[in-house]
Amino acid sequence: MIEGQETLGKITQLKYAMVGGGVGAFIGDVHRKAIAMDGKARLVAGCFSQSYENTLKTGELLGLDKSRLYRNYEEMLRAEAVHPDRPDFIVIVTPNDTHYPIARLALDLGFAVVCDKPLATSSKQAQELADLARKKDLLFCVTYTYSGFPIIKHLRHLIASGELGQIRFVAGEYPQEWLATLLEKTGQKQAAWRTDPARAGISNCVGDIGSHIEHMVSYLTGLEIESLLARLDHFGEGRPLDDNASVMVNFKGGARGLYWSSQIAIGHDNGFRVRIYGTKGSVEWYQEDPNHARIAFLDKPVSYISRGRDPMCPRAQALSRIPSGHNEGYFEAFANIYSTFITALDKKLRGEPLTVDDLDFPHAEEGVRGVRFIEKCVESSSQGCVWVEF
Ligand SMILES: NC(=O)c1ccc[n+]([C@@H]2O[C@H](COP(=O)([O-])OP(=O)(O)OC[C@H]3O[C@@H](n4cnc5c(N)ncnc54)[C@H](O)[C@@H]3O)[C@@H](O)[C@H]2O)c1
Repeated sequence: MIEGQETLGKITQLKYAMVGGGVGAFIGDVHRKAIAMDGKARLVAGCFSQSYENTLKTGELLGLDKSRLYRNYEEMLRAEAVHPDRPDFIVIVTPNDTHYPIARLALDLGFAVVCDKPLATSSKQAQELADLARKKDLLFCVTYTYSGFPIIKHLRHLIASGELGQIRFVAGEYPQEWLATLLEKTGQKQAAWRTDPARAGISNCVGDIGSHIEHMVSYLTGLEIESLLARLDHFGEGRPLDDNASVMVNFKGGARGLYWSSQIAIGHDNGFRVRIYGTKGSVEWYQEDPNHARIAFLDKPVSYISRGRDPMCPRAQALSRIPSGHNEGYFEAFANIYSTFITALDKKLRGEPLTVDDLDFPHAEEGVRGVRFIEKCVESSSQGCVWVEF
């Protein structure tokens, strides 16, 4: 189909401030570009790094006023909380150990928050954040990126409509190769903090990518984990945290699951794949080909759905931006999460009621569950790969 699509509703521009995402960082720039894609919010302040020089350099490149570039996040949040041009939300894109204190202060000061996953390094801290956001009636988004793809919305709709029948088995895999060697010893900073328990928390591989499988399966199916058994491997010599993980899952209601995440899987870039099998059919989605999904029903030929070409549910259709064959990817998925969150926040600030679709972004409670998943995997593995209740 050759047909453009209006962007997702028109609203006044909101304002945001960012912690993390300095020059040389990975995900902060992705967040900024994804927000800019729909023009619904603009960056007004930042503490982009622990290094003030980096913050100044980043701020200059982004055209920010120097008076709104800060030496540390606390100074920024306190100053911006009383600024006449006060931001509407705070984006947190720092390593895992800093999410909790930054988000905590932001909530205390009355800011809505967008924080990358994992939400915190303990479920107790994550729960505190979720409780505080609820108590203060502040929106809190945790950026589980892959739930932003239109095709994922459509598969979720198919499963919720019962098209696959009762879900029996779920297979999720997320292989990457980037930590097949001891990259962290070379000074590569993303590898250095992810393999350092003081900054990453109790897990590397499960925390970094296994957590995406957990969220995706829950988002697609609504299944709730009852118990799990995990084996976390440390293949990198002397590496204190896991770099490969195999997890068996029992869901409430009898469905089963198998999640494999790996950073030592040579030959794989970002091979996130999920397969859901029901009594009547199955679906499969692969992150490296995100505009298509495989759908199969018993006694019928296997088919493939193509975003932009084939009919999808209204929610998926609304987030599909360009005609078929023109790939949408990671940035657009992120932009869909932001567009939804910012629209919801804008409506909330205007006192308008929020619909189910308005609230279709990952919330703090999902972040709490994600951190509990990490903890339970570590608990099971460290006890000798035993079944643990979720
Ligand atoms: N949603 C996703 O798909 C996805 C992808 C990648 C990373 N992440 C998450 O995003 C977060 C950041 O990961 P990354 O790969 O971008 O890391 P990174 O190391 O590339 O960037 C982290 C940035 O935070 C800054 N920083 C660190 N401590 C700070 C502090 N106290 N105050 C201000 N700035 C500070 C660093 O200087 C750097 O600019 C992690 O929690 C990670 O799990 C999520």
